[in-house]
Amino acid sequence: MTNVLAFVSIKGGVGKTTLALETASSLVNDFGKKVLLVDANFSAPNIGLYLDLTNEITLHDALSGTLLHNAIYESYGIDVVPASMYYLGEIDVFKLKQILNKFRNRYDFIIIDSSPNYEELKPVIAAADKIFVVTSPDNVTLTTSLKAARLAKEQNTPIGGLVINRIRSPRHEYNLNEIELISEIPVMARIRDHKKMAQALNCNTPITILDNSNVVSKEIKRFASAICGSSEKENFFQKIFPFKDSFQKEKVNREFLRQGFYECQI
Ligand SMILES: Nc1ncnc2c1ncn2[C@@H]1O[C@H](COP(=O)(O)OP(=O)(O)OP(=O)(O)O)[C@@H](O)[C@H]1O
Ligand SMILES: [Mg+2]
Repeated sequence: MTNVLAFVSIKGGVGKTTLALETASSLVNDFGKKVLLVDANFSAPNIGLYLDLTNEITLHDALSGTLLHNAIYESYGIDVVPASMYYLGEIDVFKLKQILNKFRNRYDFIIIDSSPNYEELKPVIAAADKIFVVTSPDNVTLTTSLKAARLAKEQNTPIGGLVINRIRSPRHEYNLNEIELISEIPVMARIRDHKKMAQALNCNTPITILDNSNVVSKEIKRFASAICGSSEKENFFQKIFPFKDSFQKEKVNREFLRQGFYECQI
């Protein structure tokens, strides 16, 4: 049974597109899964730009009657449905769920990137089996991001967890415990703000492909492993010092996600 997962936040620039793309890339290239990546940021789509796709037929066309099949482009092993930046026709965004449901049996995962716009987020949350809230570890972003979690609760869509992205200065930012206390949502991954992300963007290449041993790539791989139920590979130091990381809360949370226990309704 395909899992339809959406990366959401009511805050721009937190890393929704990055996380959707990198998770899709890792599921495909590290774990051999079949993934459909859908850009459901209807007004300001980015996936096509991230992957340098020339997309003539897009999700917008599919939402106004064209077969979705015609809007799928392959990139780095991922089947990608880009969206149109300047679509002039009428679209019914609430058809998203119906359209994607037809593709459930063809993929292991359907991953949806979303808009920070509240109204545009509603059809995405309606189409998803589970959402992951993306935030950075500051009060402004966390508070705004959690609005998406509240919307998911209203729509009865389970929350898979929080991804903390763009960690810059831990001394001046919320830590994992504070974030879990405030949000009441388990943290599934902690991702540093890394300068190599600029290179990945510039090369139109996922960081998980560009540099698989980068710290960002490694954390995304651990997150993706939990999503698809694979075990988390231990590195050399973890093998020598098995207890060093055993109390990392996000690792425990990922284990629950891996076992399918987490479906958080805040
Ligand atoms: N961990 C990271 N380290 C450094 N840069 C990052 C990281 N994650 C994302 N970025 C960069 O931050 C910028 C915004 O990321 P992204 O487009 O994924 O955000 P978004 O939430 O999808 O934004 P929007 O709401 O506008 O769609 C991009 O330039 C991206 O490369
Ligand atoms: Mg985006």
